[in-house]
Amino acid sequence: MKIVEQIKQPIATEMELFEKKFLESMSSKVALLNRITYYIVNRKGKQMRPMFVFLTAKMISGGTINDRTYRGASVIELIHTATLVHDDVVDDSNKRRGFFSINALWKNKIAVLVGDYLLSKGLLLSIDNGDFDLLRIISVAVREMSEGELLQIEKARRLDITEEVYYEIIRQKTATLIAACCALGACSVEPEHTELIEKMRKFGELIGMAFQIKDDLFDYTDDAIGKPTGIDIKEQKMTLPLIYALNNSSEQEKKWLINSVKNHNKDKKRVKEVIEFVKKQGGLTYAEEKMITFQQEALALIQDFPPSPYKNSLTLMVNYVIERKK
Ligand code: IPE
Ligand code: IPE
Ligand code: MG
Ligand code: MG
Repeated sequence: MKIVEQIKQPIATEMELFEKKFLESMSSKVALLNRITYYIVNRKGKQMRPMFVFLTAKMISGGTINDRTYRGASVIELIHTATLVHDDVVDDSNKRRGFFSINALWKNKIAVLVGDYLLSKGLLLSIDNGDFDLLRIISVAVREMSEGELLQIEKARRLDITEEVYYEIIRQKTATLIAACCALGACSVEPEHTELIEKMRKFGELIGMAFQIKDDLFDYTDDAIGKPTGIDIKEQKMTLPLIYALNNSSEQEKKWLINSVKNHNKDKKRVKEVIEFVKKQGGLTYAEEKMITFQQEALALIQDFPPSPYKNSLTLMVNYVIERKK
């Protein structure tokens, strides 16, 4: 059995019902919007965030979840989808999930508005049902994601990013949403148990860190991952492999690197040279090591839960985050 099928096994019925609810949650009276959301749901991603919500909730409750858990999963996936639609505008990227991005097909204007629409639908799903505790968890994530993206842009302009700032960016832009998945999963079944919710939030955050390092490593490959590679340098986005290479180069090499990223980032040959240099300096190996450290820290946090199929899947999920091929 494939690893993803194995992970999904104890939440198979939940994921099936989730897909129906998720589709319903997007509906609109505007035909253009429906056309676009139809396009989006037919090109679904890995759905790792709802999986984290369900697995966390079931691990904690011993198998029983409720409507709040379902709504939480839908809200998170709506927000995730909204951010991806916006992200492809921000990154000027024409591919997502192996197909054209929304901005590539319908232009930026429409992509911005569709992203806003999805975000509002997500927030309203919580509000209309009085899930205010879940809404707080989600809203924190939305704020942090915007801040993280802006911090990233600021650093891409000035090219003065340190390893510490890199971690802060990825914590905000990616890890907080996965943290929210696990916190929300816990909160949906144990709303009063703040310590437990916080523990699961931290667990998700650590996985989220590993998740984004993996995503940044993809950018250094030529693999068919369903979105463009080599795009980070083009956008002057310095991620962990490059930061490490910079910190471990001579003054002359450093100058060449910065100059390449600053002034030659659209030159394919030069970008290739940068990638080769980063590899030679051990930047990828270093990033992989850091990724594994985050993964191990995450696993340590759930080790005390009693054995269950849910815990087992969650553990497999954590491993999948760093071993995945897309
Ligand atoms: C992509 O997330 C955005 C990042 C935080 C790197 P996923 O890789 O989970 O995207 P999909 O939903 O599977 O396409
Ligand atoms: C992902 O960021 C989007 C957010 C976390 C908001 P990236 O720009 O690094 O991810 P991909 O590679 O386009 O999915
Ligand atoms: Mg981006
Ligand atoms: Mg992007």
